Amino acid sequence: MPNPDAAAEVFGDAEIRYRSVIEAIPELLYEVDARGTVLFCNRPEAAPSAAGHVGSSVFDVMGAPLDGLARPIFERVLASGVAEEAELSYGAERGRAWRHLAVLPLPHASGGPEDGERWALVLIRDVSARKQAEGLRHRFVERVITAQEDERRRVAQELHDALGQILTGVALRLKALEDRATTDALADDLAGVRSLTEQAIDEVSHIARQLRPPALDRRGLPAALQACVQEVRRSSDIQIHVELEGVGLNERFNPAVETALYRIAQEALANILKHSGAQRAEIVLARAGDELRMAITDDGCGVAGALSEEGHGLAGIQERASLLGGRVRLESAPGNGLALEVRVPL
Ligand SMILES: Nc1ncnc2c1ncn2[C@@H]1O[C@H](COP(=O)(O)OP(=O)(O)OP(=O)(O)O)[C@@H](O)[C@H]1O
Ligand SMILES: [Mg+2]
Repeated sequence: MPNPDAAAEVFGDAEIRYRSVIEAIPELLYEVDARGTVLFCNRPEAAPSAAGHVGSSVFDVMGAPLDGLARPIFERVLASGVAEEAELSYGAERGRAWRHLAVLPLPHASGGPEDGERWALVLIRDVSARKQAEGLRHRFVERVITAQEDERRRVAQELHDALGQILTGVALRLKALEDRATTDALADDLAGVRSLTEQAIDEVSHIARQLRPPALDRRGLPAALQACVQEVRRSSDIQIHVELEGVGLNERFNPAVETALYRIAQEALANILKHSGAQRAEIVLARAGDELRMAITDDGCGVAGALSEEGHGLAGIQERASLLGGRVRLESAPGNGLALEVRVPL
């Protein structure tokens, strides 16, 4: 015969162990029914700041409706039956205090709103420290990128205004000397030097355009992408073009978006030339709802397996997109080229 006292002791022990584990976890854990009423909370004393409950005693939290932050997510999960998570900042502490919330419907949850049965778990974790560190890093990277663009603009201008003008002056004087040369041999020599000087002028202007294309500041992203593609055509046989969908050739966007997408395209094109062996490539710039989408595809060798993490190019693309709250998708199969898609909010 089983001894009821011994069983109670065993179950009692298990219950105590279970409770001590649940109470020790740093997350706030709620059990809620299908109406969002709190049936259990592991640390009610910590609930007010995290979940928006006003009370701080167990009686204020238990039996109260799940409120504040978690409610809208709970409603969505109730409608879809699919777990959701989100990171939110709220109330007076908006921007400083952040919570990670997860609403997980219980696998066997079948209780209707009237049943008062356990329906979902709600987990709330304080992620303020991580979010603050991320914010700091974000602002630092933003400043570095802005400083880099300013410096590039300055150096491009100097190259054009100082070195470019001097070389143009040299070429003009060489032409004058050539016209006054007393022998054909001297005229030929001077023509040779003038041709080299003209190559240098072209090179300086190419470098200046690479550093900061004037079209980007004067005419905007679509026109700058066209100019960039023309530069690529100058130095390679690749067939490449820009396609605009729902975007005007002279349309302007926020300068941060223009610069980021331009630099992303520049790196993607450099990668195509360096790694892909492609014959054809395409840049599509399209408006997609409230996002701007840029897809860069090539028909080259593609990538087999994991991408090398040695380079800085793809990491930079990721970084620039995420600074704008955007995202990047890479798709490739060996022999089938690479497709890179960036979406940024407008
Ligand atoms: N279009 C492409 N076709 C084939 N492989 C590519 C393509 N783009 C990138 N890759 C692969 O992805 C790797 C990582 O690219 P990433 O731009 O990060 O670095 P990298 O170009 O090697 O160096 P860096 O950009 O710092 O000069 C490349 O080394 C290459 O193997
Ligand atoms: Mg690269």
